[in-house]
Amino acid sequence: MTIDASNSTNAVPTKTVVLGITGCIAAYKSAEIVRGLQKAGVRVKVVMTEHATHFVDPVTFRSLTHEKVAVGLFDDPSDPIHHISLAQEADVMLLAPCTANMLAKIANGIADDLLSTTVLATTAPLVIAPAMNVHMYENPATRYNIGKLQIRGVHFVEAGTGYLACGDIGKGRLADVEDIVSATLSMLGVKRDLAGKHVMITAGPTVEPIDPVRYITNRSSGKTGYAIARAAFARGADVTLISGPVALQAPEGVSMVYVQTADEMLAAAQEAFKSADIGIFAAAVADMKPARAADHKLKKGSDDDQLSGIELVENPDILETLAANKGSRVVVGFAAETDNVIENAQKKLISKHADVIVANQVGEGMAFGTDDNEVWFIDDEDTEGLPRMSKANLADAILSKSLEFLS
Ligand code: PMT
Repeated sequence: MTIDASNSTNAVPTKTVVLGITGCIAAYKSAEIVRGLQKAGVRVKVVMTEHATHFVDPVTFRSLTHEKVAVGLFDDPSDPIHHISLAQEADVMLLAPCTANMLAKIANGIADDLLSTTVLATTAPLVIAPAMNVHMYENPATRYNIGKLQIRGVHFVEAGTGYLACGDIGKGRLADVEDIVSATLSMLGVKRDLAGKHVMITAGPTVEPIDPVRYITNRSSGKTGYAIARAAFARGADVTLISGPVALQAPEGVSMVYVQTADEMLAAAQEAFKSADIGIFAAAVADMKPARAADHKLKKGSDDDQLSGIELVENPDILETLAANKGSRVVVGFAAETDNVIENAQKKLISKHADVIVANQVGEGMAFGTDDNEVWFIDDEDTEGLPRMSKANLADAILSKSLEFLS
């Protein structure tokens, strides 16, 4: 079993945040904001005021975003109307940190640099996280400008109170990075309803060795479990993904545990389940394994036939073992059936102590390896058929369903 908690990127970001950074000591925290948004699968493009570049070098943001960092109105000769293209690319425009000066400009429609011009030109929702000295923050001019912008629908992430860089104590510190990221994601329509929860997911097939070159396995691609992991992370969860061998990249921000056999998957799941709030068992675990894995290649045919009589024994049932002592955890199991899908899934709901079973018909090219699926949610009150949908959308539906059981 190998464990990898690194954050490799897989999903192609579908939303863009244009992050405006102004000249303030808190500008260094914008780097964490960039990472927080990226971890949720958001593309970030950075615009800095000239003053902001005195606090943090644009190279920092260019390295983090892998995008050009825009500063001057006329800096990019390849894009003659840069403020308009930036304004159009934004699904949300975020200013963090935003100085009193920039607030005043935006409140009054002044556009005299790239950032203020982009803000004036965008139709995207605007989120502002101010940061400044307490007296500047409380100055009636600033309060008036904030009020004006709030009336126009601008969303503010209020400054925090504490020790300020200038030595004063009071309100004016940039809000917590997590609050700024959360506010921006909610403006983008990204749900954060799993924040603070630990979600454990099993995915893919297991591989049960017969000898050094042969094994028993099945057709699971891991797409379903990986989609659930990606969606859970985007919704704010800490995610552990226990994966059999698949040809997929690790989703962003997820703690990966790679396993081969059902026994290894059980051990990894037992460990992760201890701290889990939700366990989702999407893996196609091999029901049987060879009683012994030979240490040499088995011979076929004639007197020396070692292959035709391979003795099989049952693998542990991971879902059943863990759910038997689930306590307050929510347990989502799957049922992969070729016949009598609902009836068989209802039996698994009871025998495996699950809160809900995601039932799917398999065989003839269905479910295994596909990009979409058609399932039923079965719990002890209801059987709900869902329309065919992408595995990404199904992942979100499964997470929403599991939240219904979370106390
Ligand atoms: O990976 P994909 O290509 O996206 O395909 C998705 C899928 C078809 C694998 C998925 O939708 C699915 O149905 N997963 C469960 C497959 C399965 O093993 O079903 P089952 O009916 O045999 O098992 C019922 C439940 O018990 C499952 O939650 C399974 O993970 C669990 N189980 C089964 C056997 C075992 N030894 N241990 C288990 O934990």
